[in-house]
Amino acid sequence: MAKKKGAGAPNPVGIHIGIGEKDRAAIAGGLSRLLADTYTLYLTTHNFHWNVTGPMFNTLHTMFMAQYTELWNAVDPIAERIRSLGHAAPGSYAQFGKLASVPDAPVTPPKALAMVKILVDGHEAVARTARSIFPLADKAGDEPTADLLTQRLTVHEQAAWMLRSLLEE
Ligand SMILES: [Fe+2]
Repeated sequence: MAKKKGAGAPNPVGIHIGIGEKDRAAIAGGLSRLLADTYTLYLTTHNFHWNVTGPMFNTLHTMFMAQYTELWNAVDPIAERIRSLGHAAPGSYAQFGKLASVPDAPVTPPKALAMVKILVDGHEAVARTARSIFPLADKAGDEPTADLLTQRLTVHEQAAWMLRSLLEE
């Protein structure tokens, strides 16, 4: 009689890192939303780097470059954390469109300060997404995710402050 596949022996490719399947799925789901938000904000920031105009051109063109570079570098560790938890990382515009809380960039480039406001809102939205996942990671004892979320929160809250400062008198 054929033995049932995997019966009596641990699955050799199973994940045994001390975080249960349900918790890994919930955290990976949260990180997928964070990945979609981060990617969408990356693209909007790069778009604004290209399309910004006006007397603040040089300041904003340079500032947006630093910010989109940081966001671009951030998507990889988020995606790879999802993989480490045993789930597939989303990576298509269709998936990102469904998962993101950050809106797509406007088709017509806004004026410079309207771009800054959109980016403030974007960084604040990504911070809220990251913060909403934290209790899941904390409860599951998932320190690498908690560490990643802490780093992302620091970056987004700092970027939001810097951009917000441009809008204040
Ligand atoms: Fe450039």
